[in-house]
Amino acid sequence: MRLPDFLAARFVAGSTAESAVAVGRRLLALGIRATFDLLGEDVHDGAAARRIAEANQALLRQIPLEIERNVSVKLSNFGLGVSRDLCLELTAEVLGVAREVGGFVRIDMEGSAHTQATIDVFQTLRRQHDNVGIVLQAYLHRTEDDVKEALSRGDRVRLCKGAYKEPASIAWTKMDDVRSSFRRNTRLLLARGSHAAIATHDESLIRHTIAYALEEKIPASRFELQMLYGLRPRRWETLTRAGTHVRVYVPYGTRWFPYFYRRLRERKENVLFVLRSLLGG
Ligand code: FDA
Repeated sequence: MRLPDFLAARFVAGSTAESAVAVGRRLLALGIRATFDLLGEDVHDGAAARRIAEANQALLRQIPLEIERNVSVKLSNFGLGVSRDLCLELTAEVLGVAREVGGFVRIDMEGSAHTQATIDVFQTLRRQHDNVGIVLQAYLHRTEDDVKEALSRGDRVRLCKGAYKEPASIAWTKMDDVRSSFRRNTRLLLARGSHAAIATHDESLIRHTIAYALEEKIPASRFELQMLYGLRPRRWETLTRAGTHVRVYVPYGTRWFPYFYRRLRERKENVLFVLRSLLGG
């Protein structure tokens, strides 16, 4: 393994779909679900976007039946920056294969330059597809409205804090404010949604989610906690043993740098890990 691959290995399952599926098998043995992500973003070449969409179709067919065929995709990887029509066409093709194999496609949310376009493409596809969900980011001021609209349409939402650098004019920049928004939106999704996905490693938010579900007698089947591969693996297991559904986001592929960089930016312990690895510790 080359040095950069070795560093990314903490957060990335490997360079191939086989390596990701192998992680999916290990998770399944522990009662943990997975969503698979072929890494990459900001593709500005239509032919490359098409190849990436085809690779996602192949992935959906390759995930064994016993592992849920659940993938996460970024629309900028499917040519959103080339043309919205191309992106719609490629994503619809992936959704078609997902339908054929009983799979589900989650559309990740990217930086604010793509927020509205991502929601628009999702809503267009949603009219014809049940097997697609969206991600909304608690740090954006607009998100509570987006959550309410999604709930009114019966859309499946994954809530996360948000991983991109956004200006104070559109996003909360203090962690306390982001957490308050996360808690508000979690309560909305749990109370009114049927497949709420609450994505965080933040213990205070995990506890809030579970306490609220208990208080409101929301059954475990109505929501799941989601975490990223490599982060808090012991917690995935304790939560699963306690009866909470957990899904792990399993990224793979060679285009890992932007994903890796976001993981370093959001938590100093992740930087320390990389420094320790470099020093051979
Ligand atoms: P954060 O990193 O803010 O940490 C807060 C606290 O959590 C820490 O102080 C510590 O107490 C605890 N903690 C965190 N990591 C820990 C660890 N490894 N060990 C022990 N304690 C730890 N973003 C986006 O913009 N678009 C998207 O589509 C997605 N998709 C997505 C899917 C999934 C499944 C997840 C989990 C996350 C995303 N994200 C995302 C990323 C998300 O927006 C956010 O950047 C990260 O999850 C980091 O925020 P957290 O809430 O996890 O904790």
